[in-house]
Amino acid sequence: GTRIFSGVQPTGHLTLGNYLGAVRRWAEVDQHRAEALFCVVDLHALTVEHDPARLRRVSRQAATLLLAAGLDPELCTVFVQSHVEEHLRLSYLMECTASDGEMRRMIQYKEKAAREQARGGSVRLSLLTYPALMAADILAYGTHEVPVGEDQAQHVELTRDLAVRFNQRYGATFVVPKATHPVVAARVRDLQEPTSKMGKSHARTAGVVYLLDEPEVVRKKVLRAVTDAGRDVAYEPEQRPGVANLLNVLAACTGGDPRRLAEEYDSYGALKKDVAEAVVEMLRPVRERHAELAADPSSVDAVLRRGAERARSLARPRVDAAFEAVGLLPAG
Ligand code: TYM
Repeated sequence: GTRIFSGVQPTGHLTLGNYLGAVRRWAEVDQHRAEALFCVVDLHALTVEHDPARLRRVSRQAATLLLAAGLDPELCTVFVQSHVEEHLRLSYLMECTASDGEMRRMIQYKEKAAREQARGGSVRLSLLTYPALMAADILAYGTHEVPVGEDQAQHVELTRDLAVRFNQRYGATFVVPKATHPVVAARVRDLQEPTSKMGKSHARTAGVVYLLDEPEVVRKKVLRAVTDAGRDVAYEPEQRPGVANLLNVLAACTGGDPRRLAEEYDSYGALKKDVAEAVVEMLRPVRERHAELAADPSSVDAVLRRGAERARSLARPRVDAAFEAVGLLPAG
């Protein structure tokens, strides 16, 4: 059968972008149609400056939110990356498969490295090798499909290249995966800076809607969203990214089409009001369920423990096979 793998980094609180670009689809579609694994990729969060206590808190919250968003441990595997050592084992083989040049070409590396340097910090070596770990995450499970937002397309493309190269060098070991993206809202923009994506680690949070924001906060952020010159509502992503972003979000929340929705509005104010209410209503059950689950952390731990066991048992044979294929002596 088809295998699906995807993950979310606990570098900060989960956002509306994470939800519309990835998590909602995992819950509504992916877990129902294949063997699916969803991972809080905490090792990836160590690639930028971090605070240990906060990482622990945010990792737990991310796992709780995945369940609150509807991932059902009876249907899919939910786990934490660092609990399954196969990711690290395979990551090293991926570093031995990838070239320095192809890592340096990654857009996310360039952007994040520039951001760390602008803050006066140094760039962790793991930020450069990050795609090798991500490739390991995916390839360890024989994954066919990787449901992600558009910003991850380049990383999945590199994963494909590494899988093909490894198979050519050492024999058929990995499934060559492909990315899948949502039809609308594959790239949700920052409400204040609609030319860049809505990201969890942005320093300025006014343009970022977090899944656990109070309804009043969501409304305020949406009503203050930057729109574009011109007063009529039209869907023109290139010329008018701010309004297009709001239409995309509304379309994603209500199941409509952004172009058609544009025709229903004659002012930005009315559009924003409807976007705000649609987002608040969509997130309400997630917040409520999160509050219930957060009150019982041991049940979340139990889910993660079972998830890690299952993940380990799926990954180990393939990672062992990869170790053998490259010529490492079996431990016997
Ligand atoms: P991360 O943690 O940045 O984001 C998690 C998922 O949310 C999507 N996403 C968005 N989609 C639309 N609009 C946005 N503004 C937006 N922001 C984030 C991302 O595309 C992603 O699907 N490298 C990955 C995590 C990862 C992973 C993996 C994913 C590690 N290993 C293996 C898939 C398979 C990342 O940083 O996602």
